Amino acid sequence: MVRERKLQFPEGFLWGTASSAHQCEGGNLNNQWYRWEQQGRTLTGERSGVAANWWQQAERDFELAEQMENNALRLSLEWSRIEPEEGRWDESALERYRALLTDLRRRRMTPLVTLHHFTDPLWFSERGGFELEENIRYFVRFVRFVVGRLRDLCSFWLTINEPNVYAFLGYLTGEFPPGERSALRALRVLRNLMAAHVQSFYAIREWQPEGKIGYCLNYRLLDPFRSYSPLDRVVASLQDTFFNWLALKLAEGKPVGFPLSFALPVLPRAAGARDYHGVNYYTRDLVVFDPRRPGELFGRRFPCPGAPMQDPGQAGYFGEVYPEGLYRVLQLVYRRTRGNKPLYVTEHGLNDVEDRLRPRAILEHLAMLHRAIREGLPVRGYFHWTLVDNFEWNEGWGAHFGLVELNPQTQERRPRPSASMFGEICRANAITESIVERYAPEAAATIFGSAAATSLGARVLT
Ligand code: BGC
Repeated sequence: MVRERKLQFPEGFLWGTASSAHQCEGGNLNNQWYRWEQQGRTLTGERSGVAANWWQQAERDFELAEQMENNALRLSLEWSRIEPEEGRWDESALERYRALLTDLRRRRMTPLVTLHHFTDPLWFSERGGFELEENIRYFVRFVRFVVGRLRDLCSFWLTINEPNVYAFLGYLTGEFPPGERSALRALRVLRNLMAAHVQSFYAIREWQPEGKIGYCLNYRLLDPFRSYSPLDRVVASLQDTFFNWLALKLAEGKPVGFPLSFALPVLPRAAGARDYHGVNYYTRDLVVFDPRRPGELFGRRFPCPGAPMQDPGQAGYFGEVYPEGLYRVLQLVYRRTRGNKPLYVTEHGLNDVEDRLRPRAILEHLAMLHRAIREGLPVRGYFHWTLVDNFEWNEGWGAHFGLVELNPQTQERRPRPSASMFGEICRANAITESIVERYAPEAAATIFGSAAATSLGARVLT
């Protein structure tokens, strides 16, 4: 009998989807993103409205995740609901979150709770938000409060989602609120966010010595267009350092080096402040030297010509589908942190309304994740972005990252083929030959090629 080829994941591997409050809940009228929407500053002019209506009915989508046999789910708490005015706590909001977490646990899904996912209460923004170091205490107070109240239902926390995206898009390129364009301010915000993470880590640790506490960054690979060109290599590496690695250095309590060390001094107590590293990976860019772009460190970015591309958005492309990038990013984070903590893929996904690339993309990215595990990397879970189409920030309703399609007008759901495929993978805790044959037979060679079919079933990675 011929044994079926498969990529088996380690026992206890976490399988889930990731989402955020503002993008899913609906009715969030008290944060800076709502104001941005009201000011007509999203690219489509759309507003989040009822979003995916999670504030009323998240349980309906949790049921879909349960049917997919996900054993985890990442969601975020909306600070502006829980503390609508400075120092005033809304018990009914907390109750709703308690109900959501209870529901997840009942369905045997481990909640991973993000405490900050891009949104700030208006009162906090009006005080200067994360630009001011003295405001960090407000966030840490919120964290202490909310973890104290929810710690019986959750012990897996993600403090701040993608500080690099929040800081650079909000304060350097001006694409996100507050729409500023200043490198110095962006660096200050980045440092304050990482400091907020560190302080939150210790605040949570006090409540929950056994809790699992981390953060996540967005890693975008930036490769030189012509690897033989020193200029392309220098500008690609500058952008790479700036976008990807400054934040990780801060998180690790390491010096960032001259001259940036003036703006980003070493963060005290950062070195021990995480139980895992969260990796969000979507795509890569190629970078070519361009003297007309001083604001982008003299590098022009574009996707690899001829590569499979996600659906485009209003702001341009969402990027190439590049599975090997996940492997490379995991390796880079592991090496740069000297393997000091386990890794979780806290987001990966693609904008693909027709599901034309998603099944194959998921399979190939997971094969790369499996390769990383085979080579000894402690990768403990994968959270696909996202469960149900949701409100994609500036791109509004024009982006479709869901395993499940959503019609925001009627709130009708329709699982894409990827949803049933993801369910089969989670159920098997493996990529099997039969799954590949049914969903993306053309990918069988890349998935099961070379030594890829080694079984990890018996190996317990701690
Ligand atoms: C963010 C999500 C966003 C996703 C897709 C991530 O960087 O954390 O909020 O929806 O990218 O663009």
